[in-house]
Amino acid sequence: MKTLVVYYSLEGDTKFIADLIAEELDSDILELKPQKEVPKDGFKKFIWGGKSVLFKEKPKLVNIITNFEEYDTIFIGTPIWASSYAPPISTFLSNVTISGKKLGFFACHAGGGAEKCFNKLSVELKDNTLLGTIDLVDPLKEDREKVKTQVKRWLHEVT
Ligand SMILES: Cc1cc2nc3c(=O)[nH]c(=O)nc-3n(C[C@H](O)[C@H](O)[C@H](O)COP(=O)(O)O)c2cc1C
Repeated sequence: MKTLVVYYSLEGDTKFIADLIAEELDSDILELKPQKEVPKDGFKKFIWGGKSVLFKEKPKLVNIITNFEEYDTIFIGTPIWASSYAPPISTFLSNVTISGKKLGFFACHAGGGAEKCFNKLSVELKDNTLLGTIDLVDPLKEDREKVKTQVKRWLHEVT
C-alpha cells in the first residue's frame, strides 16, 4: 500500500512540511502548481489569493495525477487562505474521487484559521478515515530542527 503527499505552497512553508513528511514516510509527493500563479509580492498575494478563495475558484493546474488509485493513504497540505484551504486544493479535490482512503491534513498559517480549514476538508472528504491533523505557524520563520521534531512526533502518533 502506498502513501501520497499532495500539497500546494505559494511561499515554501507548506512545501517544507510536505518534503519532511514524504521523506519520513518514504512516500510519493505531488506539488500542485496552478497554470497561473498568484503574485507573490507584497499585498497583491492577499488580494488575488483572497479573491480566489472568496469566489471559490478552481485554478487550472499544470500537473494531473493518473495513478491516484494506487494510494491508500493521502496527506493533504495547504497554506491557510482566508481560513480555508488554497484554491489549487479545490481543483485537486474536484479532479479526483477520494473515498475509502486514510487521510492526514497539514496546514501552515500566520496564526489562525486551521480549525475551520480542517473542518471544511473533513466535510468535503467525509467518506474517508482521518488519521490526524497538524498545523504550523509559518514554519520557515521558526527553528527548523524544532519543526522537524514536531512533525516527526505527529507522524509517529498518526501512522
Ligand atoms: C491569500 C492569503 C490568505 C491568507 N489567509 C490567512 C488566514 O486566514 N489565516 C492565517 O493565519 N494566515 C493566512 N495567510 C498566511 C499564510 O497562510 C501563511 O503565511 C502560510 O504559512 C504560507 O504558506 P506557504 O509558504 O506554503 O504559501 C494567508 C496568506 C495569503 C497569501
